[in-house]
Amino acid sequence: MEMQVKQVRAINGKITVPGDKSISHRAVMLGALASGTTEVEGFLMGADCLSTVNCLRLLGVPVKLAEDKVTVIGCGGKDLQVPDSVLDTGNSGTTTRLLMGILASQPGMYAVLSGDSSLNRRPMDRVTRPLRRMGAEILGRDDAALLPVTVVGRELTGLTYHTPVASAQVKSAILLAGLRAKGHTTVVEPSLSRDHTERMLQAFGVRLERQGTAVTLAGGQTLTGQTIKVPGDISSAAFFMVAALVVANGSLTIKNVGINPTRSGIIDALRQMGAGITLENPRKYGFEEVADIKVESSSLRAAEFGGDLIPRMIDEIPALAVAALAARGKTVIRDAAELRVKESDRITMLARELRKLGAEITERPDGMEITGGRALTGTTVTSYGDHRLAMALAVAGLAARGVTTVSGVESVTVSFPGFQDLLRSVIES
Ligand code: S3P
Repeated sequence: MEMQVKQVRAINGKITVPGDKSISHRAVMLGALASGTTEVEGFLMGADCLSTVNCLRLLGVPVKLAEDKVTVIGCGGKDLQVPDSVLDTGNSGTTTRLLMGILASQPGMYAVLSGDSSLNRRPMDRVTRPLRRMGAEILGRDDAALLPVTVVGRELTGLTYHTPVASAQVKSAILLAGLRAKGHTTVVEPSLSRDHTERMLQAFGVRLERQGTAVTLAGGQTLTGQTIKVPGDISSAAFFMVAALVVANGSLTIKNVGINPTRSGIIDALRQMGAGITLENPRKYGFEEVADIKVESSSLRAAEFGGDLIPRMIDEIPALAVAALAARGKTVIRDAAELRVKESDRITMLARELRKLGAEITERPDGMEITGGRALTGTTVTSYGDHRLAMALAVAGLAARGVTTVSGVESVTVSFPGFQDLLRSVIES
């Protein structure tokens, strides 16, 4: 499917974006493990989160979907059912890696996980390695580095694990395995990744200790069903923030967006580039924080980004790259090699497609250098089936002369169903 975008005169409006993908996945997974009923408000009905729901149903967990409220009847600490077919995790790394942690710790479990062609190329050894050290039995291609994998549930033993990269998926998989393991499980990260799992586990009644980038929990704890309120996804909001910034007359308010500090790096990065962003009405939202984000078109300047900021905005870098195209000077993004193992190699693919529009971009092994201020001209670009590339390219097209055609735009349903209609609703051409 294709989407056509033209250079626009203005962007205006007050909008909301769909629920946070990371929090939605975790809400139904923890709900499945808890006793009693969990209700999830604002659940993201995107393809990734629906992959999680389908897997949980195959594991015998009743999940009811209604409008944007989801009800999960938890297994209350009892074993999940052995699925009678392959668990299809689609395009979703979070579904796959977190489920591996849950399933590996359930003696009697036997489950095969497999995804689409993108997911089946992504590294799984980052999870299978530490889980095996806890006693897990996981079989698969390349010594279980690649899907499909088979997970045979075992009694696990707690572990202290220093993750080589800051990854919330790895951290969460180990912590979820640790819930059923003997003794204590500790994960120490090189820098802090998103902490939704830690916050949500505490909300479900799990005791855990956090110190710097380390988190520890004791095995054998039980979870109690909760009502979870899911904030708007800052990763989705980022595309609209950048759209409002790079268009000449942009003024946009995005309401009720999650601004958890482990996720809000994009706000810091854009402000460093001179972006006019105001956080209105910041408030608590369950165990997370939200605000209404007001963005006004701004004259941007280049900046350098790296270090601890990168995990705080890893999914927003495609959007940031589009902002850099509009900035004076050379923007440098380093320490972001993780982008190469996302839904696509986001460094190579983004550079390749943005260059087609006339952008000046050099790849680095761990990021990219973008010289802003070049005039862009619309042409046909492709998303390679990567939802965030599709949205970044569409936003770039708003500032390019002529027509930009983005192919493979159906991938946006992974994280942002309704993206195209919402974008059209704020555009004045
Ligand atoms: C996610 C963590 C991040 C992120 C992904 C969602 C999560 O991946 O890129 O979109 O929900 O835990 P890593 O943990 O692999 O960095």
